[in-house]
Amino acid sequence: TYSSNNVGAASLASNVTCELADIDWDNLGFGFMPTDYMYIMKCLQGGDFSKGELQRFGNIELIPSAGVLNYGQGLFDGLKAYRKQDGNILLFRPEENALRLRMGAERMCMPSPTVEQFVEAVKVTVQANERWIPPPCKGSLYIRPLLMGSGAVLSVTPAPEYTFLIYVSPVGNYFKEGLAPINLVIETELHRATPGGTGGVKTIGNYAAVLKAQTAAKAKGYSDVLYLDSVHKRYLEEVSSCNIFLVKDNVLSTPAITGTILPGITRKSIIDVARSQGFQVEERQITVDELFDADEVFCTGTAVVISPVGSVTYLGKRVSYGNEGIGVVAQQLYSSLTRLQMGLTKDTMDWVVE
Ligand code: COI
Repeated sequence: TYSSNNVGAASLASNVTCELADIDWDNLGFGFMPTDYMYIMKCLQGGDFSKGELQRFGNIELIPSAGVLNYGQGLFDGLKAYRKQDGNILLFRPEENALRLRMGAERMCMPSPTVEQFVEAVKVTVQANERWIPPPCKGSLYIRPLLMGSGAVLSVTPAPEYTFLIYVSPVGNYFKEGLAPINLVIETELHRATPGGTGGVKTIGNYAAVLKAQTAAKAKGYSDVLYLDSVHKRYLEEVSSCNIFLVKDNVLSTPAITGTILPGITRKSIIDVARSQGFQVEERQITVDELFDADEVFCTGTAVVISPVGSVTYLGKRVSYGNEGIGVVAQQLYSSLTRLQMGLTKDTMDWVVE
């Protein structure tokens, strides 16, 4: 192991003479692949995170009574690194992930790294795993920060110790459909979030909670599940792992961030990009009827990027959008966003970090 205080981002950057890992770069999906290093930083309840270090990637040891294992005191986040043609490596808005983790940590009664610690840890981890970053335009390195109660508890109480960990894995498309449209089914019985709950933060339990409906939907041939609000059961919330947008005429609409919707960084970026291109964007409550009347529907997320929706089924009624391919608005926004993320267009938004 070696400390990130000794091996900082800048010193690693000047040393990069890496040969790419020997894997099939043309067929990356969104599956886990072990890489070389992970980053670990610990702190006690009431204390601050201070000194993190890179370790060889591998299993971690947790006491069986760890807060995260017993009571789900844990968060994750997700961001990506892209390799540019000129060899530079780009991160997309990593401070936003840091801020989201800090917001979630507050909700889950956990201490969290500062924004600077988070971004530095991400840079160090990415550089240590540079040979796993896909060649330009072949995918990205998915960066998975975790924050968990690693100290022992028995009663329901915040853990006495916390671990911040980052691991990475090269990825391609999240959905096997790639940029081809996905087919969603609206879930009418189960919900992913409730008002006052934790739906608005990336706590690990939110994602276990979607598995039952998702498994049933996949068994019926759907790509994933679209959730409704748990109070009225009529307003759109989000898909298992991504936010949803609909397009009607020149207006984009997406559910407002009210505490039950995950504040996606891709969601936020698409809103800004769309507005800069002259679209009107509304963040508000959206009914299923509006969804059925939309011209185009698409999902956004870090893992998903933009995924066009080809059909939505609700109580046995199916609506299809457009032809077989991605809609024009989704395509335009996808191109603008990914060109920015991959360093192919000028970063007028100041979102990209080398
Ligand atoms: C991401 O888009 O990065 C997420 O965190 C969703 C995850 C469930 C794959």
